[in-house]
Amino acid sequence: MKRLQRLRRTTALRDLVAETGFGAAQLIQPLFLNATADPPSAIPGLLDNQTHNETSILQQVDADLAAGVRHFLLFPVPATKATKTFSAEFAVNSIARIRERCGDSASLWVDTCLCSFTDTGHCCVFDGAGRQDLAATLRELGDLALTYANAGADGVSPSDMNDGRVAWLREVLDAQGHELMPIMSYSSKFASHFYGPFRAAAQSSPQYGNRRSYQLDVRSRRDALAASQRCADEGADLLMVKPGMSSIDLLAPIATATQKPVGAYQVSGEYAALTLLAREGLGDFDAMLLESWQVFRRAGASYIISYGARHARRLGFP
Ligand code: PBG
Repeated sequence: MKRLQRLRRTTALRDLVAETGFGAAQLIQPLFLNATADPPSAIPGLLDNQTHNETSILQQVDADLAAGVRHFLLFPVPATKATKTFSAEFAVNSIARIRERCGDSASLWVDTCLCSFTDTGHCCVFDGAGRQDLAATLRELGDLALTYANAGADGVSPSDMNDGRVAWLREVLDAQGHELMPIMSYSSKFASHFYGPFRAAAQSSPQYGNRRSYQLDVRSRRDALAASQRCADEGADLLMVKPGMSSIDLLAPIATATQKPVGAYQVSGEYAALTLLAREGLGDFDAMLLESWQVFRRAGASYIISYGARHARRLGFP
């Protein structure tokens, strides 16, 4: 059955995709839960962002909610890396406690990817011959998504770009009673050089090679449109372009083709560029951040993921 009710379930989700007005309700703040982050540490380039432990992440969430943050995107980073099977049990308690704090007016999304969990730093599992093992990869992604859903996540967000992941996550979630859990898919995600600060924080740098065999080639528009269309066809509720600033040309075409809400992820390297310009005295941080969000909106973004979302109120966003 086609479920159109997933994004109507809570106030936070209804506001996220509201088609008029724009403010903190359409901004998503990333958070890093690092099982070994003790004490919480700054992330180079990402002004006002830290990798958190179980205690400090709750303090951060409390401060963010008080500052008007309405949506979080959590990246769980485990202490140990593995080859084939992964566990996100370390994140369960934090997810439950963040969810409690969010109430009905804020939402918690959890990223489902393997690159913070694998010893290779890749977003998939490999077979004995070094080839991508898609069946094993999907199985692990499904298990992570279920762990997050059962822990209380409001939605899951696949950032891995493996073929078939959205259809598989939908099937797994539905089979376990999570029919109303939305999927926010990183639907047009490019193999980009702008993910540097994130990979340091998420401990997710490829140990060899690169991600070009599964993420999109930056030169390809056709493939980017096809990737989002397929996510929509497989049942994704929200679509996304990433890196956001270098993909603004794709927002409107994807929204028109799919009739789904399409968001922009202002990725770590893009946000860090603003941080570094400001640090060198070459620009006003708040003004640059605001301008970048206004341009996303102008280009047709329904929502924005930004490391600066916690500043929205301060910048005068409603
Ligand atoms: C995991 C993932 C990445 C980002 C989000 N999820 C890195 C990557 O694909 O290498 C990047 C986010 C950012 O740079 O802010 N696959």
